[in-house]
Parts: sequence; structure tokens; C-alpha cells
Amino acid sequence: MSTFPEYRPRRLRRTETLRRLVRETHVTVDDLILPLFVVPGRGVRRPVGSMPGVYQTSVDELLRDAEEAAKLGVPGVLLFGLPEHKDEVGSEAWNERGPVQEALRALKREIPELLAITDVCMCEYTSHGHCGVIRDGEVQNDETLELLAKEALSHARAGADIVAPSDMMDGRVAAIRRALDDEGFTHVPILSYAAKYASAFYGPFREAAESAPQFGDRRGYQMDPPNVEEALREVWLDIEEGADIIMVKPAQAYLDVIWRVKQETGYPVCAYHVSGEYSAILAAAERGWLDGARAMREVLTAIKRAGADMIITYWAREFARR
Ligand code: PBG
Repeated sequence: MSTFPEYRPRRLRRTETLRRLVRETHVTVDDLILPLFVVPGRGVRRPVGSMPGVYQTSVDELLRDAEEAAKLGVPGVLLFGLPEHKDEVGSEAWNERGPVQEALRALKREIPELLAITDVCMCEYTSHGHCGVIRDGEVQNDETLELLAKEALSHARAGADIVAPSDMMDGRVAAIRRALDDEGFTHVPILSYAAKYASAFYGPFREAAESAPQFGDRRGYQMDPPNVEEALREVWLDIEEGADIIMVKPAQAYLDVIWRVKQETGYPVCAYHVSGEYSAILAAAERGWLDGARAMREVLTAIKRAGADMIITYWAREFARR
């Protein structure tokens, strides 16, 4: 390699046209998935205080947001449901008339080309806010699998294009795959939250989804942030159980995990730029401490550069508008 003064790296940075020619990573709207929070009722649109630009909406309002996203070219939305009632086992999760199921039917009727992805988890539906059945103060793994399978199946019946289990129970991908296949949903892919860390960055989401644990925390089932070898074991397990797409979550603080997972598996990798990562940027921007739109673009680019094929981001519509 030639060195200075023969090689002057600045030559290729002088104009935007030159920079465009040699740019290595591109984020496009094709890469983005928009999360949406659906509540019961009609005409409901409640802003989430801790997440600028994010709302809890009833199905009719959700359709408008989804329509706008589809028009802007966003390929998919990720649905989270807030049920009418919560109970110990989260039985509203598989209610055929629940908000997610109703939203799925409406989305598939009105905007069939938009991918409807559903988050499969119990924490929005349980009174204690944990991601599974509790006994003796602990989340029971194997009992929870049956509930997750029921929930995923009810989403598939209502029209889900992809189901995305986020509970971090062991064996859930196999349990869900079996349940889907048994009812003929062999074509419905599983996007597995395979490496999901017990992160402080989920704070704002728990307000949006009203899913904060009422006691303890999620460290007994979500991953310990210092670990990456373990993330690879989680990922391989999920692939062996039938996962089609692998998720790493959060994203911005876990770029090395995204990199390793992509390099070592070659599978489609989805990264979730989570609520706290999103809101931290916008809060700093509100104070005038940084340019929010530029910071968001930089972070999304970094996530792609690390190897993500797709990114779940609350910024999806805003990105597309710009
Ligand atoms: C449900 C779930 C969570 C998120 C996605 N699915 C919260 C959690 O595990 O506590 C977080 C998303 C975000 O912070 O944007 N288990």
C-alpha cells in the first residue's frame, strides 16, 4: 500500500459525490421495521411520554400509521398488544378478539403487502409483568412454552406473516415451530429474539407496553450483558430449533454481538434499536446537545455496518420521510 504523500485519503472525501461513490454501507428504507403498540377501543391515540413520536393506538388509528409506513416503503411493522385485562397466566395473549389479533385481520384486509410481524411474549399480558408463568417466585420455563405456542398460533390464524418470540424461554422456537406446523402454518417464519440481553435500555418500552415487572427483574431469563460466546450458543440453539431470522437486541450497545452472529452463522440477522437507545438520542437532541436526525442515521448505519440485514427502529417512518 502506498503511503503519504502518494496516498492521500482526503482526496476521496472532498465532495458528497465522491463520498457517495466510495461509501461502503447503505441504510435504506428496505432495511427497516416499525414497531407499533395496539390497544383496545376506537379512536385512541395516546402519546408515550418517554418515546417522542410513539403512540399507543387502537386498530383504526394503527391502520393510519401502518398505511403511512407502507406508502413510505417500510416493508414491515412489529405489533405489540396491550390487552383489556391482565391475569396471572396472561390468557388475553391468545384471545382471538385481542388487540393484536384484531389489528392483524385489519392490516391483512387493508394493506396485505405490508409484513405484519408479531411480538410473542407474555409480559404485556401477565398481571406480574414477567414473560411467563410464575411459581414459587420464579418464571417456569416448560409451562410457559405451551402458552407461547398458543399465542403464536393465534397470531398466525389472525394473519401474522412472521412471529417473533421475545420471552427468552429455552426451547420456545421448537415449541412454536411444532405448533405452527401442526396447523399447516409451515410457511410462517420465526424471527427469534435469540440474543436478547437484560438491558437498561428497555426502560421507555415498559411504559409504552405497560409491561414493567411488578417484582424482581428479567435477569433470570434474559442474557447477561457481558456475554457474547453465550449469545452464539443461544443463536445456534434457535437455528437448530427452526428459527429463520436471528435477532440481536439491543443493537447500538451490542454491535460486536451483531458482527459475531452474522460472521459465524451467515443467517439473516435482525437488530433491534430499542426504546432507550432511541429515546436517549431524541432527549439529547431536545436539549440541543446533538443533531437527532444525524445521530440516528449514524447509529443505524453502524448497526448495518456491523452486519445487520434489517433493523427494528421507532425511527423507521422518520427515516423514510427524510
Ligand atoms: C417483551 C419485549 C420487550 C422489548 C421487546 N419485547 C421488553 C422487555 O423485555 O422488557 C423491548 C423493546 C424496546 O425497548 O424497544 N419481552
